[in-house]
Amino acid sequence: MNSSSFNLQNKRVLVTGGAGFIGSHTALELQNAGCKVTIIDNLTNSKTTVLDRINELSETTPVFIKTDIRDTEKVTRVMKENDIEDVIHFAGLKAVGESTQIPDEYYDVNFNGTVSLLNAMKEAAVKSLIFSSSATVYGENANPPLTETLAIDVQGISHAYGRSKAMIELMLEDYTRANKDLSVTCLRYFNPVGAHPSGKMGEDPKGLPNNLMPFVSQVAVGKREKLTVFGNDYNTPDGTCLRDYLHVCDLAEGHLAALDYRIKKGKPGLEVFNFGTGKPSSVLEVIKAFEKASGKNIPYDFGDRRPGDVPSTYADPVLAKEKLGWETKYTLDEMCKHSWNWQNDNPDGYPDS
Ligand SMILES: NC(=O)c1ccc[n+]([C@@H]2O[C@H](COP(=O)([O-])OP(=O)(O)OC[C@H]3O[C@@H](n4cnc5c(N)ncnc54)[C@H](O)[C@@H]3O)[C@@H](O)[C@H]2O)c1
Repeated sequence: MNSSSFNLQNKRVLVTGGAGFIGSHTALELQNAGCKVTIIDNLTNSKTTVLDRINELSETTPVFIKTDIRDTEKVTRVMKENDIEDVIHFAGLKAVGESTQIPDEYYDVNFNGTVSLLNAMKEAAVKSLIFSSSATVYGENANPPLTETLAIDVQGISHAYGRSKAMIELMLEDYTRANKDLSVTCLRYFNPVGAHPSGKMGEDPKGLPNNLMPFVSQVAVGKREKLTVFGNDYNTPDGTCLRDYLHVCDLAEGHLAALDYRIKKGKPGLEVFNFGTGKPSSVLEVIKAFEKASGKNIPYDFGDRRPGDVPSTYADPVLAKEKLGWETKYTLDEMCKHSWNWQNDNPDGYPDS
């Protein structure tokens, strides 16, 4: 399966947060599939120079409008002016730790931002939404493999980031019940990593990376001295946490599969899919794979466990395979190799515009 396997020619798609890590890779694949892509982003965690790379790799530049998703009027105008048919909604704040410090910001951007987007969709008569959810909605007490039939556990989540995602999913359930022509797909990502194989696009976090892979790659390239592994006394084979890492290009392709499925199915309502590999790796396995991919030594030490970290979490990926015909294909070694290509070729991320 690749972007040309889908029948998405000339589909007019709005990508919120499309300048960010996952959104930019998805925008690229949408363009490669012949879609007409409009990106809105307020650039709080991204740069417009990513658009040059999308252009380089797809020979077309998406329409870009700098705006906040909470500006309902402007977003409505963008939808109307670009005759949008479908929305893929990535925009939001995503740092778990930060969300415990500034929960108000997280609820405002993530939750209120989604309400604002839904209002704009209503005004502009757009009836299809794909939402970036997260495996965090299963809470911290669920036993893997996690299946979509498990209930959302708002009480079992210890941070505003995860709770905001869970609350958005619940809200979307209510919206689709009340609006019989609205179609919503919630995609619960596990741990997206990697970069475009060309080394031209990748993750470019502002400030201290929150996730393992960008941290490891910054240590490998010499930007940071060493990595701290949070906890080595978990009940796992090597004592470190197990996570389900998936390649961002697999993830991007999954969005095209979800869009294609929704169009073919033609029926409104809410559907939920896990996006993961089903095969977890430990923190130490990631470090070793990255050392192999980069040929660099990654110094690390062990620190305390972080609150909210569960020992092991991974997806049951069967539903996405059965219904969307989509499954991941990249290995952990490839995820590390591509992350390294990106980091090594772009040690400071995307250039300033
Ligand atoms: N990366 C992960 O590990 C992960 C895991 C699960 C779910 N997700 C979700 O996937 C989505 C995309 O994640 P990402 O890793 O690409 O993050 P990212 O930070 O790279 O991208 C998000 C983009 O949204 C933009 N943005 C933020 N607030 C905005 C606002 N109010 N209005 C308009 N634009 C705004 C940012 O500038 C950024 O470009 C997020 O919703 C995130 O919660 C990410």
